[in-house]
Amino acid sequence: MAVQRGTEPPFVVLGVGAGIAAYKAVEVCRRLVDAGMHVAPVLTEQAQRFVGRTTFDALASEPARVSVWEGDAPIAHTRLGQLADVVVVAPATADVLGRAAAGLADDLLTTTLVATRAVVVLCPAMHTEMWEHPAVQDNLAVLRRRGAVVVPPETGRLAGGDVGAGRLADPERIVDAVVQVLASRARSGPAGDLAGRRVLVTAGGTREPIDPVRVITNRSSGKQGHAVAEAARRRGAEVVLVTTTSLPVPAGIEVVRVETAAELETAVADRVGADGEGVDVVVMAAAVADFRPVATASSKLHKVDGPPSIVLEPTPDILTGVASRRRPGQVLVGFAAETDDLVERARAKLVAKGVDLVVANDVSAPGVGFDHDTNAVSILGADGTVTEVPLTSKGAVADAILDRVVALLASR
Ligand code: CTP
Repeated sequence: MAVQRGTEPPFVVLGVGAGIAAYKAVEVCRRLVDAGMHVAPVLTEQAQRFVGRTTFDALASEPARVSVWEGDAPIAHTRLGQLADVVVVAPATADVLGRAAAGLADDLLTTTLVATRAVVVLCPAMHTEMWEHPAVQDNLAVLRRRGAVVVPPETGRLAGGDVGAGRLADPERIVDAVVQVLASRARSGPAGDLAGRRVLVTAGGTREPIDPVRVITNRSSGKQGHAVAEAARRRGAEVVLVTTTSLPVPAGIEVVRVETAAELETAVADRVGADGEGVDVVVMAAAVADFRPVATASSKLHKVDGPPSIVLEPTPDILTGVASRRRPGQVLVGFAAETDDLVERARAKLVAKGVDLVVANDVSAPGVGFDHDTNAVSILGADGTVTEVPLTSKGAVADAILDRVVALLASR
């Protein structure tokens, strides 16, 4: 897959950690250059034990670097990070991940990672025991939270004949990830394809109180809704995120924290307005409780009093309410989390709720839905079209949903 060339090729810093998979970084380097990118390799000191810098010198767009004290020192340590459109680290060893998560800057690669504001693509590779260690997984979680894209390792033969998880992802997958990051970056900027649009996103599962300490809730983590809000902001929209979660929200997004279906309904109604004039797009990713206790006990229920009988009442369907007040040109997106008859049930919801798109996911499938960082969805349109998005990051799913939204906005 080749990158669309502007006047300047995208500037990619290729970080190479000290693992046996460093030899595959040579192939990654060659493919990135072939795909039209300007590649600046940065090796760790120890990476040179696995592959020589001369190989990268010959294949990359500029000579490989190792130390902050060489070449155009003393500013090389920030120059590369500032110039980069993407920093890709392959292999990202346990050591590099640990230093990056801690924000250390003790060599050129980690200094570049701290100095850059570009998207960082991490491609871990290590032995299975190291890959599965909680320290490594925690470091990756920290880096993901800061916006890094992770290309997970594959399962297969490792150095020394061992077999297991931890083998560097195929170079083709790594290059694809870099191309995708560059493509979504090209859509972002001030002239992004949602510039001037007001987008309301809801996220997370509502919590309906039984008494002051207990709630009825569901397994929604809110991650997919947050990813949609972040992608919409990146693409230039003015975004309001109504969320039940305490997940961090990047600057530039207005956030309204709520807990119950009633609070969520009020927050949405305030933003949408009585005539629907308040927003151009509504994405209802929140998992709103369908039923809530009729009454909330004012003091804690105690077990000595025996099992309580909790009477439930239906909550108002917020999305249906928004659809009933919609104004021409507005785009409404609902979600359907299912465990069976995915497409039929999602299509029925699309019709019943009167929305333009329903994003359906089979939450019983591995890696899909609640609390995962990945998702696989079918996006059903009122026009009968279905876009399948196979298992990928929730960020990529968000962009696929917004691609459909942008097309609908343009057609109205
Ligand atoms: N929704 C809403 N208000 C509610 C319930 C759901 O706006 N009270 C929205 C959700 O945000 C989501 C879509 O409707 O976009 C999900 O549809 P829903 O009818 O909740 O699906 P389920 O509850 O899964 O329906 P069922 O239990 O019948 O499968």
